Amino acid sequence: MKIGIVGVGHIGKTLALQLAKAGHDVSVANSKAPENINPAVLATGARAVTVQQAVQDKEVIILSIPLNRIPEVAPLLTGVPQETTVIDTANYYPARDSRIDEIEAGQVESLWVKQQLGRPIAKAWNAIGSDSLATKGKPAGSSDRIAIPIAADRDSDRTLTMKLVEDTGFDAFDTGSLADSWRQQPGAPIYCTDLTVSEIQALVDTAEKERLPARRDLAVAAIMERMSSATKNPDAAYGVRLSRALYM
Ligand SMILES: NC(=O)c1ccc[n+]([C@@H]2O[C@H](COP(=O)([O-])OP(=O)(O)OC[C@H]3O[C@@H](n4cnc5c(N)ncnc54)[C@H](OP(=O)(O)O)[C@@H]3O)[C@@H](O)[C@H]2O)c1
Repeated sequence: MKIGIVGVGHIGKTLALQLAKAGHDVSVANSKAPENINPAVLATGARAVTVQQAVQDKEVIILSIPLNRIPEVAPLLTGVPQETTVIDTANYYPARDSRIDEIEAGQVESLWVKQQLGRPIAKAWNAIGSDSLATKGKPAGSSDRIAIPIAADRDSDRTLTMKLVEDTGFDAFDTGSLADSWRQQPGAPIYCTDLTVSEIQALVDTAEKERLPARRDLAVAAIMERMSSATKNPDAAYGVRLSRALYM
């Protein structure tokens, strides 16, 4: 498939590597000129392009940028056909994203993104830590293969997103519509806890929406204390241990 990835940080970089390795035609962009993209991102065949080129004539566009940067890319997507699948990986972190009143008031994060972009989206790869995404993928059929939750309102987006999640080395778990996607937001039992499909199935409905923000903020505080920087991600061993203790 022709895939454009906007954002090649912790998550976008791995998506570029895995999706190009799986045989997709992958173009990647960040906010600067293409020559600023780390060559390591292109090691399996992805091409560095401008952000305008990354969203042009694509079957799938993946946005892997901080939530508060979504409004910046919204104008770029106005010419993208409605049938194109746009997948967002973003999570809301008040300390990084500045206060977004609608989300503070309880709006589901993916519905806010959909509103900003003015088009259907899918949500995926938001509920796995960057180190797990980079190192824990396994071939389909592995008994202990980790699953990644996805959500979408259109069946076409759901089917395609689940297929691409599989191509990155993980089972895909359908949490339902975007309105249901709070079940895969930070603080939820299936968020960054590296579970199999059957383990997610057993836990997904135990999420308590009103408790998610407090649990998320506890995790952020613990990670900040340990990493001493908002831009460094914990390794999978610590990140998953922390998420399981706080969220499950
Ligand atoms: N880190 C994780 O473990 C993790 C896990 C799941 C989901 N997420 C979510 O996934 C998203 C990406 O996270 P990340 O950790 O990969 O972020 P990151 O390492 O900070 O990388 C962000 C990327 O977005 C690019 N970007 C920002 N604004 C842009 C714009 N207007 N146009 C084009 N590119 C832009 C940045 O490019 P420049 O360098 O040019 O600014 C950079 O390549 C976030 O919403 C995050 O919440 C993260």
